[in-house]
Amino acid sequence: MSAYPPVKVGLLGLGTVGGGVTRVLARNAEEISRRAGREIIITHAAAKNLNTTTANTAGMKLTGEALEVVDDPEISIIVELMGGYEPARSLALRALANGKHVVTANKALIAKHGNEIFAAARAAGMMVGFEAAVAGGIPIIKAIREGLAGNRIEWVAGIINGTANFILTAMREQGRDFPEVLAEAQALGYAEADPTFDIKGIDAAHKLTILASIAFGIPLQFDQVYIEGISHISREDVAYAEQLGYRVKHLGIARRDVDGVQVRVHPTLIPQRHLLASVSGVMNAVLVKGDAVGQSLYYGAGAGAEPTASAVVADIVDVVRTLTADPENRVPHLAFQADALSDLPVLPMASVETACYLRLQAQDRPGVLADVTRILADRDISIEALVQKEPAPGASDVPIILLTYEVQEQRMNDAIAAIEALDSIRAPVMRIRLEPLDSD
Ligand code: HSE
Repeated sequence: MSAYPPVKVGLLGLGTVGGGVTRVLARNAEEISRRAGREIIITHAAAKNLNTTTANTAGMKLTGEALEVVDDPEISIIVELMGGYEPARSLALRALANGKHVVTANKALIAKHGNEIFAAARAAGMMVGFEAAVAGGIPIIKAIREGLAGNRIEWVAGIINGTANFILTAMREQGRDFPEVLAEAQALGYAEADPTFDIKGIDAAHKLTILASIAFGIPLQFDQVYIEGISHISREDVAYAEQLGYRVKHLGIARRDVDGVQVRVHPTLIPQRHLLASVSGVMNAVLVKGDAVGQSLYYGAGAGAEPTASAVVADIVDVVRTLTADPENRVPHLAFQADALSDLPVLPMASVETACYLRLQAQDRPGVLADVTRILADRDISIEALVQKEPAPGASDVPIILLTYEVQEQRMNDAIAAIEALDSIRAPVMRIRLEPLDSD
C-alpha cells in the first residue's frame, strides 16, 4: 500500500480516446499504481454526449460542463481529450491557472498554442504531458526528448497520420476507392472529427510541428509548415510508383539544413525496400537520424482508443511520479530548456531540394517529349527515368512518368508551370517528391 493518498483526475471528453483511457486505467489499475507510487482515479468527467459514451464511468461524477471539472478543487490532473483549438486552449490555461497539471492528446492544441500553454505551465509550476499527441501509442516524444538527448538530431521522417496511411495502403493493395476507405477509417475511430484534417495533411502537420521543435529545440511554428495532403493522389500514381520500385507514403519530414530547418508534409515516393514502405494500414512509424545513434525507427499504432490511451496514461503516471518524487526536476516540454530555444529559421519550401516523380498527361504526337525534356534541361533538371504508359481505354492522351534527380523546389515549380503551359499537355502536372531515406 502506498503511503500517499490517491491522485484525482478530471477527464474532458469521453469519446474514442476518453473511453480507452477509462478502460485502461480500470483494467490495469493495480500495475499502474505500483508504477506511479499511488492510486490514480478519475473522479469527474465531462462530455457533450453522456448518453452515447462507451467509457467505463463507474464511480465518476459526470457533467456536460467542462468548466465544472476544471474548477473542481479536488482534482490534481486534467486530462483533455476533446480535441480542437477551442475551448481546449481556454480550458487548459484555466486548469494550469487553477494549479492543475494537464495531460492532452490534442496535437492541434499543442502545435498551435503550445508556446503559450507551456509558458503558462512554467509560470504556474505545472506539467503538461502530450505524448499521445504524436503517433498515438508510440512513445516518440519520450524517445526523442529523453532517450536521444545526447544526439544532434539531423532529421525526422514519419508516417504520422494513420488515416492517410490506411487509405494509401487500401488503394495500393486492394485498388479501392478513396471515399469508401475513408468511411471505413472513420467508422474505426481513426479519422479526426473533421476528416479533411487527415486527408489534407493538417493533422500530420500538427504532429510534425511538435516533432520538429523537440528534435531541433525551436519554438512551435505550425504556420511555417509546408502542407500537402493525399486527396489528389490517384490509384494510377500509386501503381506507376510501384512499377518504378517506389511506394507512395504520406510523410512528415523535418530536416536540419545549412541555414535553417525544413518542415514539410507531403506524399512522398520512398524505395520499396525501405522499412517505412512496409508500414501499412493505420500503423505509424517515425524514423529519427541522430549523429550518435544513427537511424532508429519507432513503429506502432498511431490511432485508436487503447493505443492512444496507452500514451495518455503514461503521461498521467509521469505527472503522478513527480508529484511524489522530485517536482523540481522536470523534463522540459520541448526537450530543450525554455530559455535555450534556438532561432534557427524554418526554411521556405521553395529552397528545399528533392528528387521528384512527375506524371504528365500528354497528347501522343511527335515533339511532345522533346518539348518537355527541353524545359527540364533549360532549368538544369536532370532526368533519372522516363516511361510512357498505355493510354487509358477511350482516352486520347498518354501518361508520361518522369523521375528527376534532386532539384530545388523553386526550379521545379518553374518547370511545371512551363510544362503546363504547353498545348500538348493537360494540366495539372502531378508532382510527388521522392526521398531515398538513406543515411545522409
Ligand atoms: N486522425 C489521426 C490519424 C488520429 O489518423 O492518425 C491520431 O492522431
